[in-house]
Amino acid sequence: MTGLIIALDGTAASGKSTIGLLVARRLGYMYFDTGLLYRAVTLLAIRQRVSPGDAPRLAALAADLAFEVRSAEDGGTTVLLDGEDVTVALRSPAVNRHVSAVSALPQVRAALLEQQRRLAAPGGIVMIGRDIGTVVLPDAHLKLFLTASAEVRAQRRYREQRARGEAITYTAALAALQRRDRLDSSRSTAPLKPAADAMMLDTTCLSIPAVVEQVLAAVRRVAAAHPAADSGDAQERPMCPDHSPP
Ligand code: DC
Repeated sequence: MTGLIIALDGTAASGKSTIGLLVARRLGYMYFDTGLLYRAVTLLAIRQRVSPGDAPRLAALAADLAFEVRSAEDGGTTVLLDGEDVTVALRSPAVNRHVSAVSALPQVRAALLEQQRRLAAPGGIVMIGRDIGTVVLPDAHLKLFLTASAEVRAQRRYREQRARGEAITYTAALAALQRRDRLDSSRSTAPLKPAADAMMLDTTCLSIPAVVEQVLAAVRRVAAAHPAADSGDAQERPMCPDHSPP
């Protein structure tokens, strides 16, 4: 194995992607945001006018996902679907509205499970999502769960969306976030909840560098306890989760 497997879960806008990316960079690990997979299925469903309740067709879209991630020049991630750059489209208001319903479907989750596990298997990865520590990677070396108050998270989303030029009020951002929290936590399959052995981090009053340092300290503790995870031959990691060998 070429590094630890780190599962990073948490509520929407709790800082998962920012922290996950920074931690992955500091460690030289791969960073993968599993929310993008659910967003990609949702985008395809919208484009192909598949009803949000049509579980078999949505699961088929998930199973056939021609999804590819590339590191963008600005340090972010570019996502290609069937070769098309859909990075911006995956964050559109329409996708935001429907993604919780799509991700609540057990058939869709099952179709994406193995892709996520294959991607993490070689190690040296920070995988972020909602059920990574509980369902996708229950044997991860380190499990983290990020939270923050709904008001602080809504403020973050409001600023992000305004920066993208979207017309949104703080009140609407807060309402949308609370709705997403409710849907993500109350679904029957893989609900959003911390794993029993997850390290909880409340980011409400912490700066980004402070959270990163806390995570890196936890990584050092875990690495010392799992020296074998950091040795051995590098394994080839599929760039494209859906096209990797079984
Ligand atoms: O993190 P995000 O906002 O991009 O996630 C989009 C949606 O996908 C959100 O409703 C939660 C869901 N999701 C999930 O159910 N499981 C994951 N591992 C990642 C995201």
